[in-house]
Amino acid sequence: MPALLNDYIAEGGAGTAIVDEAGAVGWRLLGERVNRWIALLRDRGLGEGDRLACVLGNRRETFEVLLACLHSGITVVPINWHLTDPEIAYIVSDSGSKALVVEPSYADTAGRAVARSTGECTTLLVTGSMAESGFEAVEPLLALMSAAEPEGQTCGATMLYTSGTTGAPKGVVNGLFVVGAPFSRVAKLTRYAHVVLDVPSRERCLLDGPWYHSSQLFFSLLGLLLGSTLVIRRSFDPESTLDIIDRERITAAHLVPTQFIRLLRLPAEVRERFSGASLGRVWHGGGPCSPDVKRRMIDWWGPVLTEYYGATEGGAVTLTGSRDWLAHPGSVGKAVPPNEIVILGEDGTPQPPGATGQVFVRRAKGQSFSYHNAPEKTRSAHLEPGTFTFGDVGHLDEDGFLYLTGRAQDMIVSGGVNVYPAEIEAVLINHPAVQDVAVIGVPDDEFGERVAAVVEVTADAPEDLFAVLDPFCRKSLAGFKTPRSYHVIPRLPREATGKLRKDVLRKSFAAIGIERPDIAHPATFADGVPHAEFARRRETEPVAWTPEPLLTRHSSAGSTTQRGSGYWAVTRYDDVYSVSRRPEEFSSAAKGAFLPDPRTPGDLKQTRQLLVSMDGPEHVRIRRLVATVFTPKSVRGLSDSIAGHARRLVEKVTDGAEFDAVADFAAELPLLVLCDLLGFPPEDRHLLYRWSNALVGFDDPEFGSGDVEAYRRTFAEAFAYAMKLGLNRRETPTDDLISRLVNAEFDGKRLSDREFCSFWLLLVVAGNETTRHLISGSLEALVNNPAERDRLVSGEVPVATAVDELIRWVTPIMQFRRTAVRDTEIAGQPVAEGDKVVVYYTSANRDPAVFTDPDRLDLGRDPNPHLSFGIGPHFCLGAHLARLEMATLLTELLPHLSRLRLTGPVTRLESNFVNGAKSMPARFG
Ligand code: HEM
Repeated sequence: MPALLNDYIAEGGAGTAIVDEAGAVGWRLLGERVNRWIALLRDRGLGEGDRLACVLGNRRETFEVLLACLHSGITVVPINWHLTDPEIAYIVSDSGSKALVVEPSYADTAGRAVARSTGECTTLLVTGSMAESGFEAVEPLLALMSAAEPEGQTCGATMLYTSGTTGAPKGVVNGLFVVGAPFSRVAKLTRYAHVVLDVPSRERCLLDGPWYHSSQLFFSLLGLLLGSTLVIRRSFDPESTLDIIDRERITAAHLVPTQFIRLLRLPAEVRERFSGASLGRVWHGGGPCSPDVKRRMIDWWGPVLTEYYGATEGGAVTLTGSRDWLAHPGSVGKAVPPNEIVILGEDGTPQPPGATGQVFVRRAKGQSFSYHNAPEKTRSAHLEPGTFTFGDVGHLDEDGFLYLTGRAQDMIVSGGVNVYPAEIEAVLINHPAVQDVAVIGVPDDEFGERVAAVVEVTADAPEDLFAVLDPFCRKSLAGFKTPRSYHVIPRLPREATGKLRKDVLRKSFAAIGIERPDIAHPATFADGVPHAEFARRRETEPVAWTPEPLLTRHSSAGSTTQRGSGYWAVTRYDDVYSVSRRPEEFSSAAKGAFLPDPRTPGDLKQTRQLLVSMDGPEHVRIRRLVATVFTPKSVRGLSDSIAGHARRLVEKVTDGAEFDAVADFAAELPLLVLCDLLGFPPEDRHLLYRWSNALVGFDDPEFGSGDVEAYRRTFAEAFAYAMKLGLNRRETPTDDLISRLVNAEFDGKRLSDREFCSFWLLLVVAGNETTRHLISGSLEALVNNPAERDRLVSGEVPVATAVDELIRWVTPIMQFRRTAVRDTEIAGQPVAEGDKVVVYYTSANRDPAVFTDPDRLDLGRDPNPHLSFGIGPHFCLGAHLARLEMATLLTELLPHLSRLRLTGPVTRLESNFVNGAKSMPARFG
């Protein structure tokens, strides 16, 4: 049997070891499963000194893998399941993991991560019985393995990655478990945990936060190693936490202050139902807890709260029970052996009680930690061997109790005075309008920094926060500490442990008071795409909450001025890529794929009839049905007619007369092609032009001017036209696309009338404006970059290569919208269920992390992995067609291109969606 579980199995093994949401297992079965895992890992060549990474949720298998590694000399590298594939790839590579174990819901992302990772992560396992995305199903493999006690067990370890506050995450080697050490060392550790930290033996522990965080992991794993039953919840829900504590007679749990706040905010009748009689201790630490919140918890749950101060790097270094805390309110406790707390002033001298300075932990040499692959970072956390800091500022009182006032790098220096955010946050959190709060310093010309509060508000918070929060703060804080401004954010960037990513916030709010182009406002784009602003965002706030401007909409009931919900603007290439490929988290259907929020349920329903605004099986069904029409082969079938249209158009404009490069040229080709494609008589193409302008140019004063009813009328008119057309082709099919579309079958089903009309309308818009703006934008780019134009004209760069660079350069569709359908994360920024997320292709396409010299038009750029056509399940169906149209037109234009001049100012669409010109006076010669 696994050495560390021997005692409990020897006692008969019948008691419950683990209860997760799938059921309960006893000690004997757990032991056998761990044996099989050990055998499987050995079979795959893993052994002492190797590393194994996991992207697993809170579940039984996670602890099986952990225990197996702890008995095989393997180091487990837990990975936060919210991370994106590049982030996971980084950890897999940096840790040198040879194996990756995942659960099915993370297999896709993890599979992409493995493909991106460097190193030799070759053993890929997924829990359950079904193989997924290159991962082998583990259950059939375990069944083949021996359940007998493995020979030669040797101790393994864990290595957790901390997000830190700057730079890439680093793996922490903290010496809690040591690879190859005798198991008696683990026994010493568990004894210490029991005696000093009060981790219970043979009781019942609750894991109700992500196990990949050190405190959750160690309190639950050590409890299990001490023979306590571990009850595991996949995710936190305040009401069910209360229920499970009572039902499962939980004696010990680890919670974080944000969980306390959510528990305290439950309705009184729910709170009153809770008994909590079984609870012996509830640890919390790793993040500040407002004294008021803590007092209310103690009033409610009794003196069971045990606070510690610690970090992944050094474990828990102080401790205080509730009673001691009530005598020393606000403290995080007294040092526990073998730790000693010392406060050092700026000059490095030890500070007396009451004096504030940086908090250091001193231990015997050798009982410290290091960062994997980061000796410099290890050095900078240490004063000398055995003396290190977690980066906090605080003081000790006469009794040796430690009080934290903030993190060294969080301290605000305003007008030369030090201000500690934690103190202000502890006040603000008590106001009923405040759900959560972070206080940061923002740049100030006069004071260097000034105090700003970033607030997550409660549902009934007033509009004017300053009016209520300012007097509230002044009651208990000196004037220089009261925030000068309050900023509402839907969700503070907290990790599941409660740790606040102030670095993320500081970046987002560094620009308070500085005028920046508003990327949410359609009018901003009348002056062109604000590329400098996108560059700044990529650099400093790649996933930033972006409030929406007030926009006026008209209808028969009059004008209304409305503000959208605000959204997360995603501007880096990797993040746009990753969000687009996680449709199970970022839905196109929930609120549609367009930035403006649907105004009514009817509008949402209408939007959802469009392919772009569908998800899952419905999307797959319709997409497969229509995709056949857009294959490269079918599109090549249109080559001759496109070439004919292009030739005639070029002939018309190259006679030396002035023309409008938008209306007379760029708009014409896609319209003519669409007429062929959609079964329109060419003379009806003005209808297409009008509909498409009205729908896409909704915000532009010249086209849609925000008139809601006109928008709906256009929709209805176009629908009616399509319906007539569809019926006609159902009765008398020809060989055009429409006939193929209305009669095509997939899984024995045809498109319904409504589905057909919706798709037809999407094509009217998608195939029209996009290509128009690509053409006009390309002409403008070629005129403005004569050297590049000449490379094209001389034949130095192939037309096809140039076309893709022009598509990147123009990026006709600047963004699409998604809606988060569960709480998740984008590059470390938590995103809540229901939040709007907008992916900016226009920014991704200029990301220097992917494109060398991205702001230079380089017609020979190859490869050119631009995202102008989107990525993931909604990748543009018209991409081949658009490329063909552009290439054909360029080829026809080549002999004349050097003579093209712009003869007047270009006017642009007021749209935050398409990047387009409205008019572009031009002449050849
Ligand atoms: C340069 C020209 C074009 C650009 C830049 C462009 C861009 C895009 C983008 C970014 C998407 C992804 C939408 C999302 O992820 O939510 C998309 C989807 C789509 N495009 Fe295009 N497009 C172009 C031309 C065309 C043409 C010519 C057609 C057809 C005639 C077309 C038909 C579609 C359709 C049907 C979809 C929806 C696919 C789905 O939801 O599964 N596009 N396009």
